[in-house]
Amino acid sequence: WVVMRTGRAPSNIAVIKYWGKRDEKLILPVNSSISVTLNPDDLSATTTIAASPAFVADRLWLNGKEVSMESQRYKNCLREIRERANDVVDEQTGVHIKREDWLKLKLHIVSENNFPTAAGLASSAAGFACLVYTLAQLMGVNERYQGELSAIARLGSGSACRSLDGGFVKWDMGQKEDGADSIAVQIANETHWKDLVIFIAVVSSRQKEVSSTSGMQETVQTSPFLHFRAKDVVPKRIKEMEDAVARHDFSSFARITCADSNQFHATCLDTSPPIFYLNDTSKRLIGLVERWNTQEGSPQAAYTFDAGPNAVLFTTESNSSLLLQRLLFQFPPAPGVVLSSYVVGDLKTL
Ligand code: DP6
Repeated sequence: WVVMRTGRAPSNIAVIKYWGKRDEKLILPVNSSISVTLNPDDLSATTTIAASPAFVADRLWLNGKEVSMESQRYKNCLREIRERANDVVDEQTGVHIKREDWLKLKLHIVSENNFPTAAGLASSAAGFACLVYTLAQLMGVNERYQGELSAIARLGSGSACRSLDGGFVKWDMGQKEDGADSIAVQIANETHWKDLVIFIAVVSSRQKEVSSTSGMQETVQTSPFLHFRAKDVVPKRIKEMEDAVARHDFSSFARITCADSNQFHATCLDTSPPIFYLNDTSKRLIGLVERWNTQEGSPQAAYTFDAGPNAVLFTTESNSSLLLQRLLFQFPPAPGVVLSSYVVGDLKTL
């Protein structure tokens, strides 16, 4: 027999960035972060997991290619979920699987992204959130406390802990050494800010040159600026951002979002050797938004960039066609820039 489950998890984009770990194994960050969950119809991972006594090893296929499961990150996620497994009677096959059987049963896992992997569009976030969520569904795991699954997804990739909820999500850095309090919490759901509009300008779908994992390691080791940011800047910004979201205050939201993206990229530049994630097209996009905001005397749009050149742009519904016009005027559809629109939507995993 074979039992199977399929799940889908959205990607998320941080508006207060996570960059730097205080514990590499447990993936504990040097600062808290806040993200917006993206519409899973547009940016998500879909994962099917099968378990069978006929399987001889855990195996994983990512976007059609088999990849090794030797990485400790996969092992940690699988171990934590297996340890929490319950007795399950599979509805389709009627097979009864006891909690201790899950420890021995091997898994075949197939995961697909509907967007470019590793181009700075948080593909690892959607992927690990989906793996943990789907595994938990398959093995009948119930959260013992709010955020428990997010803490397990965090062991796969830090930003993944923020993809288990919709709307606006805060990843609390936590204080405990074992990471039990380093969990994600939803600060506002997907219906909270209906007229916030998100555009993604795909500047390049090329794999990034420096992965987030190794980039942030180098920054922690060499950038004095990162430590100032984590201690003296982010805690205040987290509060301001929570406030801006609660009040639907687009001006503050936009100001903090742009400032935090720029500060994150400044810490990359402060790394030795320096890391550059933005390219000339990214910089032109920044210029476009900054010029518009200056012309109008208040923020009309905001931009943020992760570890890659692609831009995520925010504006309000009433301004969305103006932003599109400006984008199309400056970047007529041409190789290199693809524009798509995403609205914060229905964001729960399936
Ligand atoms: C720039 O979560 O990909 O997107 O924890 O090592 O897997 P690991 O890193 P990852 O880093 C994301 C960095 C970022 C900012 C963010 O999403 O907060």
